[in-house]
Formats: sequence, structure tokens, C-alpha cells
Amino acid sequence: MILLFFTNLFPICYAQEIRWEPVAPGIWKGITGSPEDFDLLSAATPEPRMEAIAKLGEAAFPLDSTETLARQSDGKTYLKFPLVREEQLFGFGLNFKTVHQRGRILRLHVDHYGGVDNGRTHAPVPFYVSDRGYGIFVNSARYLDVYAGSGSRLDSKDPALARDRNTDPNWTASPYSDAVEILVPADGVEVYLFAGPTPLKAVQRFNLFNGGGPLPPRWGLGFTQRVHRLYDQAEVLAEVDEFEKRGFPLDFVGLEPGWLSKSYPNTFDWDPGRFPDPEGLVASLKKKGVGLNLWINPYVSPDADFFSELTPYYGSHTVWAGAVPDLTMQEAQRIYWQKFKKDHVDIGVSGYKIDEVDGYDRWLWPDVASFPSGLAAEQLRQTYGLLVQKQSARLYRDKNRRTYGLVRASNGGGVRFPYVLYNDYNNHKDFITALINSGFSGILWTPEARASDSAEEWLRRFQTVVFSPMAMINAWASGTKPWTYPEVASEVKAMALLRMQMMPYWYSSFARYHFEGIPPFRGMNLEPGFVEKPAGDGIRKVDLEANPYDEATKKEIKDQYMAGPSLLVAPFFAGESSREVILPEGNWYDFYDGSYAGNGEIITVTARLDQIPVFVREGGIIPLTGPRLHAPGEGETFDLEIRHYGETASSFYLYDDDGVSFAYEKGDYSWREIRVEKDENGNWNGSISRAEAGKPDHIGKVSWTFMTKP
Ligand code: GAL
Repeated sequence: MILLFFTNLFPICYAQEIRWEPVAPGIWKGITGSPEDFDLLSAATPEPRMEAIAKLGEAAFPLDSTETLARQSDGKTYLKFPLVREEQLFGFGLNFKTVHQRGRILRLHVDHYGGVDNGRTHAPVPFYVSDRGYGIFVNSARYLDVYAGSGSRLDSKDPALARDRNTDPNWTASPYSDAVEILVPADGVEVYLFAGPTPLKAVQRFNLFNGGGPLPPRWGLGFTQRVHRLYDQAEVLAEVDEFEKRGFPLDFVGLEPGWLSKSYPNTFDWDPGRFPDPEGLVASLKKKGVGLNLWINPYVSPDADFFSELTPYYGSHTVWAGAVPDLTMQEAQRIYWQKFKKDHVDIGVSGYKIDEVDGYDRWLWPDVASFPSGLAAEQLRQTYGLLVQKQSARLYRDKNRRTYGLVRASNGGGVRFPYVLYNDYNNHKDFITALINSGFSGILWTPEARASDSAEEWLRRFQTVVFSPMAMINAWASGTKPWTYPEVASEVKAMALLRMQMMPYWYSSFARYHFEGIPPFRGMNLEPGFVEKPAGDGIRKVDLEANPYDEATKKEIKDQYMAGPSLLVAPFFAGESSREVILPEGNWYDFYDGSYAGNGEIITVTARLDQIPVFVREGGIIPLTGPRLHAPGEGETFDLEIRHYGETASSFYLYDDDGVSFAYEKGDYSWREIRVEKDENGNWNGSISRAEAGKPDHIGKVSWTFMTKP
């Protein structure tokens, strides 16, 4: 332990080197001071996937440990991590406007997103990843102040120059900073360091350490529609029939607050007028191949039948006059969730949309609130999203059935929960930035289609929904249906069916999230071979000396992203007639026709209504199935059309299991190798390995399409 004292004129500060101990290959834990018992990991209780982490290999400690410093004073813990010139940072949770985080000042605080990237967001995950191939996670359930390379220290090894503003044109109001500094309002904290060597590997280690991504049931990757909040049971069934009649896919339908006898706060009882026979509804939907998702917020109405039983476990303050159960307490959990189990899960409801666990300050319990566990209101605020995800997911696990739902808040530690984040913000471009950022932080985000001003905008939104973790139409308030705009109805339908055709690709991509920690949707900055400045383009170089905020303000790549192992998606937004796409190094091909698109360069693509630009990397293999209205059900066999792109032999691992249960956790799954290579006559030849005897095998006929013509 080194004690640093700077006493040139007067003591500037002191700090101690963080003591790091290895906890898994390429992962170290550092403890400083006396960490609190309650933190993000104790709330989320992830089980690290040690075997999968080991497969990523050992890695050298990625930083100079003498430059990772901490100190306690004033009841707070101060953390400092080094930065070097040109280093770029990503992460810190669900940001909507910026991808580059160097130079930013954030207060990580669970909240509804208010239009500014200031740390107040639905999932302010205290994890960042550097382009130098390491990541840092601060395991604290407190509001954290982050100076991500904005403070200039007197003791800096690479100090900012003092310039004369009178005469020096390079004078800047924001001089260079060589550190990430974080203030934790507690007497100590646990920190984790994840090695790469690439940024993607660091993210994988972070995800695997948190249990790996969720493996949704197959139906979770199909389409979902949310119906008007005051629909009754007959109207719900009629809407589902309408989808079927018009040939639009639908895997689960979501009910908004009107299913409840009282909402905001909630009884969690079915409304007897609108929903006289919930079991019958679930059964009828099931026959149609459609699941049912229920909107809730967690706050308990005085009219809820379990209200008084929970009395000892409520916080001091209400939300819309509803009581807030202290869900850190076991007895509270037991009383609370048994209602959900009995009245919803046991009758076959397939999942929840858990609303309002994020903010606003004027709605949620205030920070002056107290809770019977003795935890601070702030700690509950930072973890409530984690707690409701974990505890509701357990109801399904107990039935050996997977769920896939929606939630409005999450945090570090929640990687494995089968929930996708959403909000009401509805800015299409920023939705895509959020999708990119979700991949740096171990969370999932849906750019739901909610409302549009034009047919074109509806189509463009729909196209990005198709290439996202949850294909959700949440247009119950606007009343927009997939077919509402006749001018684009056929394009919308073709896109929806493409989503369904791509099921085998999506499912395998999620399996890699679960087993290997690779985010199914991720930013270009995690992609090997991606440079923001391919030769000859107009993207300006960042000069952090001149402006440390440059990283956050320069042209970031936030309008294109990776989907699964081999697809690059470059959406159009309403009103655009052409756009640029940066292709990483290596050959890239057009997804739709297999033609060569470019290599390590910027290309310009012209908008067409029927396509969202998608490119496939060299050797990309995309397993598709036929267009269909529902995801393959349990035990259902489906045919494959396997597409190969490019000019090189390659392989793809296709994941298969029963699609609904947790049997895969006991080894009941198969990875099948799809290989494409040329035979001795130079003709393409495809093969797929058999599933091991006794392991899942749902593949029927296989056909091959070699997309790139010689
Ligand atoms: C909002 C939520 C919407 C919708 C609505 C229902 O808070 O974000 O998606 O569910 O509540 O009242």
C-alpha cells in the first residue's frame, strides 16, 4: 500500500493505492475503506459464469495499479483511475445522446430520462469501458458523481498546460484531464476491473461476471403489441384476431393499466367488468399462439387484498397514494409476490411490463423517505428496478418457464434479468443511440414504435424495432396499428415477417449473450476493425488538449450498430433520402442481394422505403426460417434457409433448445456447426452438424442460398 502525500506548499490531497485481488481470469476486485453491506451486487445477486469467463483466457492487469487510487474523507469515498491521451470511454448506462463519455460530468441516478445526458436515466450503470480494452465497475447503490476526464489535477503526470488567455489562441476553459474521478457517498466501496484485451472482451467479462445475458423464450423475440388501456377482454381477442387476419405476426399482447380493478396505485386484481374471465382469456390467446403481458407499477392501493398484511413493510412515503413495499425484505417479498403468482403467473400470464420504477422525483418516494429495512431512500431508488426484475423473474423460474418482459429501470448487476428497458421519450434517433449504449452496459433497450407523424416515420420506426431486442409496438395511446398507413402497410408487413424469418439468427445471438457475454446489439466501437476515421473521410480528429469535451461533442457514430455476430444496421430516419455508412475493415455485403458493399470505408446509401440498410460481414452466415406469424413453439420443428455472404469459407454456431424452459441450464441444448466451403470444383457447399444424441433438435429441412454471386 502506498501512501501518497503531496506537500510541496500545502497538502493537496492524499490517496491510497487500491488493493486489487483477482476474482476470476481477467477480473479483479478492489476494496477501499469499509464498503456498505447493501450494494448493486447484493441487490441483484448475480452468479458469475466462471467457466465462460475462464474461456476468455487469463489477461494481464490492464492498468498501472499505482494509478488507481482511493481515499475516504467527509463520509465519502473518492476514486481515481488513469486516462491517457486519445483514450475513449463508453458506457455509464443508458445514455440517449452521446456515445463517447470522456469529458462528461454525470450524476448516476436512477430516473426517467429528462432529455439531457447527465447521468439521470433509467439505467445509470456505473460501468465504463475504455477503447484501450478494460472496464471499471463501481459496485455502489448510491448516487455517484462521475468526472469522466474533466478535472485537471495539480499532481497530474500529464498536466494541462497553463496558457495565457491574453495572447494564446489555444487557451481553453476546459484544460486537459488525465483521470476519471468518482465520488461515492459512503465510507468505502468495492470496485471491479475487467481486462480485455479488446473493449468487447472487457464487456463480455463484465456481462459474464453478472451472470451472462438473459436467454429469452423464443416467443419473446417475436412481435408484441400493446392494446388500448381500457380495452376489455373481447376487444383484446378481436385485436389479436385482426393481426392474424391481416397476416401480421404476433407472439404476445400487452395489457395496459385497464386490466386492473384500480390502477395508480394498484390492486393487482383483474377488473371484473373488463376482464370477467382472465383464465379464459389466457387460454383463448394460448390457442391462437399468443402470450399475455401485464402492465404494472409496484405501488399498492389501499384496496389491494393484501394491503394490510404488508403494512409493517411499507416505506414512509407513497407513490400516487400507493404504498411502497420494501422489497429488500424477505417477508415483504413473500407477501407481495404471492399475489402475482396466484392471480397472474399460475393462470398462464407470460410476463410483466414493470413501469414507474425509475422516476420522476415528484412521483417517486423522495430521498427523505425511510424504509423498514433501514436502508436509505436513495439505495432503494438505485435498486428498485433490479429488485422487481429479480423477484418477478423468480416466479417464472419456479415454474420452469422463461419470461421476457419490460422494465423502466435497471442498474449494474442486472445483466441476466429477462427484461428490456423502454421509456416515453420517443425520439427515434436518440432511441438508436440508447440501443448502442445498452450494449456497453449489460442492458437491453427497445426503440418501440409508439406514434408517428407520417407514414414514412412509422415505417422507419418499425424497421428499427425489427432489428432490436424486443419487437414492440406500443402504440395503444396513439391507436396506430402496423397497417394504419396504407401507403407503407406492405413494407411494414414485409419487415415484420423478416423479423420472424430471422428467429434462428436472433435466438443464436441471444444464446451468445447468455453463454459468452456478447451483447446481441452493440455499438460500432466494440467492433474489431472499426475505425471512426477510415482514410479520406471528413470526420475531424479529436484534440483533447484543445478541448477535453471534444469526445462528447464530435461526430460520434450513433446511427449505425451491430446486430448479432455479422450484421451491421444503418437505419434511415424520416425525411432522409441518403446516408453515409462506415464499414469496418473487411469485405461487407448487402444483406438483401448479397452484392459487395465496401471495405473499411464510408459508403453512401440511397433510401428505399422497403429496406433498412443492413450489411453482412465477409463470410456471414444468416440462418432464417420461413415467414411465420408466431415463433416456433415448444418442441416444434422448423425448416432453415441458410444464407451465406461473401467469398470465404466460414461457419456459424446455431443454438437450439426447447425454447421455453430452463432445461438448457442443465445442459439440454445443442450448438450445431453450420459450415460453408467450396468443393474441389469451386462450388459452394453447405453442411450442418447433427445434434448430439438426446439433445434438442428442432431443425427440419435445410436449404442453402449463396448470396454473393461470383
Ligand atoms: C407510462 C409508460 C407507458 C404506459 C403508461 C400507462 O408510464 O411508460 O408505456 O405504460 O405509463 O399508463
